[in-house]
Amino acid sequence: MLLFGGDYNPEQWDEPTWAEDVALMHEARVNTATVGVFSWSWIEPSEGRYRFDWLDATLERLHRAGVSVILATPTASPPPWFSLAHPDALPVRADGTRLVHGSRDTYCAAAPSYRQAAVRVATKLAERYAGHPALAMWHVHNEYGTRCWCDHAAAAFRSWLQQRYGAAQPGLDELNQAWGTAFWGQRYGDWEEVLPPRATQWLANPSQTLDFQRFWSSELLSAYVDQRDAIRARTPGIPVTTNFMLPDDPVLDLWEWGRAVDVVAIDHYPSSRDSGAYDQIALAGDLARSLNQGRPWLVMEQAASTTVEDHGTVHRPPGRTLLDALAYIAHGSDSALFFQWRASRAGAEMFHSAMVPHAGADTRIFREMTNIGHALEEMSEVSGSTLDADVAIVFDFASWWALEARRVLPAQMRYLDSVRADHRAVTLAGHLCDFVPPDGDLSRYKLVIVSSTYVLSGDAAQKMHQYVQDGGCMIVSYLSGVVGSSGAVGLGGYPAVLRSLLGVRVEEFHPLSPGQIVPLFGGGSGSLWSERLTATDADIVDRYATGDLAGNPAITRRSAGKGCAWYISTRLCDERNELLVRDALAAAGVRPVVAKLGPAVHSLLRRDGAGGSWQFWLNYGATSVRLPAGGYDLLRRRLVPPGVELGPGEAAVVRQDAAR
Ligand code: GAL
Repeated sequence: MLLFGGDYNPEQWDEPTWAEDVALMHEARVNTATVGVFSWSWIEPSEGRYRFDWLDATLERLHRAGVSVILATPTASPPPWFSLAHPDALPVRADGTRLVHGSRDTYCAAAPSYRQAAVRVATKLAERYAGHPALAMWHVHNEYGTRCWCDHAAAAFRSWLQQRYGAAQPGLDELNQAWGTAFWGQRYGDWEEVLPPRATQWLANPSQTLDFQRFWSSELLSAYVDQRDAIRARTPGIPVTTNFMLPDDPVLDLWEWGRAVDVVAIDHYPSSRDSGAYDQIALAGDLARSLNQGRPWLVMEQAASTTVEDHGTVHRPPGRTLLDALAYIAHGSDSALFFQWRASRAGAEMFHSAMVPHAGADTRIFREMTNIGHALEEMSEVSGSTLDADVAIVFDFASWWALEARRVLPAQMRYLDSVRADHRAVTLAGHLCDFVPPDGDLSRYKLVIVSSTYVLSGDAAQKMHQYVQDGGCMIVSYLSGVVGSSGAVGLGGYPAVLRSLLGVRVEEFHPLSPGQIVPLFGGGSGSLWSERLTATDADIVDRYATGDLAGNPAITRRSAGKGCAWYISTRLCDERNELLVRDALAAAGVRPVVAKLGPAVHSLLRRDGAGGSWQFWLNYGATSVRLPAGGYDLLRRRLVPPGVELGPGEAAVVRQDAAR
């Protein structure tokens, strides 16, 4: 079954509305509702006093209506009484400002009182609903990602550092070494002197900042694990997860987190309304699938339509929501869940789109939702099936954190831009793309792209060497491997740990000014960044044509063992990058499974072991195309011959094995 439904918040409504909700859910074929995400003050109205009557009634009602429940623990929004009783658990910013309640996420996850209260309420819920027939899954918390710089955080940070470097004096010496505290006389003589990177006079230490990011990912993970384990003990067999937000400012190392959840679930809100939305969906979907080790994953939240929020409006044209929902499924999701079922009448997000808008059920949006619900019902056979990729891009949260640590490198250097450009190049060439951590198993891929992976350990680099030696093709781009795990530079020329693999030695950075373009002899150009490098043991593929680096190598290629490795020392324009990726795909012998029908028509072939395969065709373009292959189209519910027309904004999900 493909899960269809969304966040359901009955505490915002009255009885007649609850009755209408179940009728409308039935009409729209909703089979799943996420309940209780922010309901702490309703479940525990005062410390230690629990009220489950409304939640009991909600689960009963949903169960009778055939709707399964993903039950949330409400710990992302502590009640006001909690903040008054435990003011030390309120979060503190880097500048020392203590925040107060009145929104959500007003807690420090390192504060013992918060951690205890969170596990307590999660335990109560698990005890209450163990064995309830509506309970299908647990949704712990909401979008973990709140950091804090308070004294509790400082103490927890020190413990985490002691674990990493060793608690005794040699550990502190190692920390001093790793953070390079000899610079600006920052040497720590006692563990108590070590603080979070709070607001300070001038630039913060980037290695300290990097470790602080790692610490928070791990501290939040332990907060999740506390709740997960309490729940698992009481409801064995019910999967436990949390919803990952794929944000611009990442807080979690999702590789670690992916291993801690029973199924990866993401919230995703593309910021673009044109076909760029597909690029964002494809990237998020490929990352979610990879985080879930190739297994089907869940979209826990997406928007039902245009949303109007304080941070901007994101339009969705009519019909787009179905196409987007199918795009996630094409990339391996087994759900289309939305935030939220019914648009709130009040509160911070009252103009966020919902499955049932303020205008009610007699609306285009609800009709589209009903349409999606029916489509997903027709497609249920695809659930559980998986996809195979020949290409992978290295994705690294530490590199993201370190590259964007303020003022170390130019502000325009955005890690995700580099990954996006490479992912788009692979997708445009008609290939599915996985993501892998830098030290992950590369052996199953024919081409691996190392996109500006700034932090690279010796071990990870060694695995990359081996991969190429064994016949893999690899593209490595600018700024990769410049620092090791601690954030300190590898000496002797960048990228120290990859120099011998790539056969290059980068002597000097040449950052380009915003808008500055450097043409290359072979066509196309670079921007943002360039490097003075020597090809010590590599062929020069292209050179800079003008500027300070005129005549110097820009792109190199080295054959090594049975494989080969390219190095790109600038941010290539899209056209040139796409060309290079296509060359590398050809060298690696990777052919698209399905021919591309143009840049805005996306197709993916998805397979399972027993049942056959399903071809997804998604037309994000403005013109009609004709499908090259026929089969049974689950959306049209009929056999379609090759050559059938797919209009703009239309989709087809074609079962390849027509015999079934
Ligand atoms: C999500 C969050 C939801 C809601 C939504 C609005 O990130 O989990 O609670 O705020 O954003 O887009």
